[in-house]
Amino acid sequence: MRLHPGGATADVDAVEEILRRGGDALRKRMARAEAHLEHVTAQAGAPLAAHALATIAAGGKRLRPLLVVLAADATGGASSEPDSEQALTRAAVAVELVHSATLVHDDVIDGAQLRRGHPTVVAEAGRLTAIATGDLLFSRAFAELARNDSTAQLRALSDASSALAEGELLQREDAYASHVPVERYLRRCELKTAALFEAACRLGALTASAAATELADALGSFARRIGLAFQLLDDVLDVSGPVQHTGKSRGTDLLDGTVTLPLILARERDPQLTAFDLASLASPEQAEELCDRIAATGALQTARERALQFVAEAKQMLPAILPDGRGALLDLLADAVVERYR
Ligand code: IPE
Ligand code: IPE
Ligand code: MG
Ligand code: MG
Repeated sequence: MRLHPGGATADVDAVEEILRRGGDALRKRMARAEAHLEHVTAQAGAPLAAHALATIAAGGKRLRPLLVVLAADATGGASSEPDSEQALTRAAVAVELVHSATLVHDDVIDGAQLRRGHPTVVAEAGRLTAIATGDLLFSRAFAELARNDSTAQLRALSDASSALAEGELLQREDAYASHVPVERYLRRCELKTAALFEAACRLGALTASAAATELADALGSFARRIGLAFQLLDDVLDVSGPVQHTGKSRGTDLLDGTVTLPLILARERDPQLTAFDLASLASPEQAEELCDRIAATGALQTARERALQFVAEAKQMLPAILPDGRGALLDLLADAVVERYR
């Protein structure tokens, strides 16, 4: 597991705690996934492979592969048979590759400068290279998963990828809008982020046992709530920073016109913000000033509380889905999402 170059953050510590509790078997599975991720990414011609590999090598929390592995484990099928171990590794890798592909494309759409503490592919090599790098990562993801020979697994990842694209388009449609209803914002978060969390749990359950469709559905619902909370907190972090914690510039969302929950709530509280047109933001410095004004309304705390509610709902679901403490590590993962903004 690699860390953001900015140093250990609370969520990274929380992930470390899960690995510690999961013992050698969990660490081995995650290490195997990490090695395979690099191997698969490197299998393409330069210079695209270089950018893809740099994106992967820059780290990230690897939350989604961890969800795949924990869901498989909880399903009870993560046997040490070489075939099932390989299927699990491929599923974990495929999910992280799709995630990384969407990040590279997302940075083109959002005009972002910094990712995982490094300049984004678009900032370093331009739009065309960034689009092709994202495409490459997508195609490697599905090539990997196809080797598992499971239509259900392919459908789960493909549904999430389609949802992601739809979510990004919805976000663009709402860019610079003077009013975005909370329900519409939440729908965007479901599509953009929660769907891939759901897919991660589905893939974990299905690689463990092709017959575990009900468990895959139930774990999928659990993961959707975690994913929703995760995006809400990411949107809080965009306003609160600091960059050393997030590896991304503060105010990126505002600067590219993305209306997120903190701004939606702040607009209800501060009449000057209600009237403020995001299109008039001219520099990262002005975006940071707007971040401070949003924070001054208390909107960040309310948005965090909303995220915490989703996490609480997810945690409440677990004992019925996985009795006898079998959901303990997934429960910790839900906490790790919350730890994210501390
Ligand atoms: C960033 O995801 C994109 C969102 C869905 C908010 P992560 O915060 O999991 O990114 P990495 O993989 O750790 O860099
Ligand atoms: C999540 O949205 C991006 C994807 C799900 C691809 P953001 O735009 O908020 O993610 P960051 O902040 O750039 O990581
Ligand atoms: Mg973005
Ligand atoms: Mg963000």
